[in-house]
Amino acid sequence: MSEKKILRQKMLKELSLLSKLDRKKVETGQQMQLFTTPAFQNAATIGVTISTEIEWDTYTVIKKAWGEGKIIASPKCMVKTKELHYYAWNHQNQIQDGYAGIKEPIPEKTKQIPYSDIDLLIVPGVIFDKRGYRIGYGGGYYDRMLADYTGTTISLCSEQQLIQQIPRESYDLPVEQIITEERILHTSEQNT
Ligand SMILES: Nc1ncnc2c1ncn2[C@@H]1O[C@H](COP(=O)(O)OP(=O)(O)OP(=O)(O)O)[C@@H](O)[C@H]1O
Ligand SMILES: [Mg+2]
Repeated sequence: MSEKKILRQKMLKELSLLSKLDRKKVETGQQMQLFTTPAFQNAATIGVTISTEIEWDTYTVIKKAWGEGKIIASPKCMVKTKELHYYAWNHQNQIQDGYAGIKEPIPEKTKQIPYSDIDLLIVPGVIFDKRGYRIGYGGGYYDRMLADYTGTTISLCSEQQLIQQIPRESYDLPVEQIITEERILHTSEQNT
């Protein structure tokens, strides 16, 4: 098994052991900080996944954004090409269970949004380093997307998910900001 795979499995196991209360504390901290960022405040359109049980809550982020008149676009995994297509949605009846049990917009009920219209992209991941490099769920979906995406990128994680250095491959691309329950890291300013 590759080093990335081992790290990913170990972290997913650790995260699964957190209590509901601990998870809630992390999420509240992340959200409070995210909402203070110019990236969030100035974004007209936000690209964000619809969180599963094992991921940090994004429903609160989605509702806050809607409340401020922002457009929420969520991804649908194109399994054959490993591409992500984003669709704008604003009601529960426009989403359904999709690939790997991840909720995704129903294309017939929503409008596809080009990457260039997404001002802020919230990028999921399992492990991060301070430079913004990440280990995701292993599909390479976000590495492919980030190669074509030019807007602002933020990942939400916990302090526990930060490690010194992620084993990097040529196609791995970093995110610009990492928000934990404690702080906002601007990854290009990190020297360690
Ligand atoms: N830009 C790209 N073009 C083609 N293949 C890519 C690209 N980026 C990554 N891949 C492929 O995707 C696979 C998974 O990559 P990796 O292990 O880094 O996944 P990950 O970063 O955990 O996933 P994700 O990006 O979905 O969060 C690798 O086999 C890699 O070759
Ligand atoms: Mg990668």
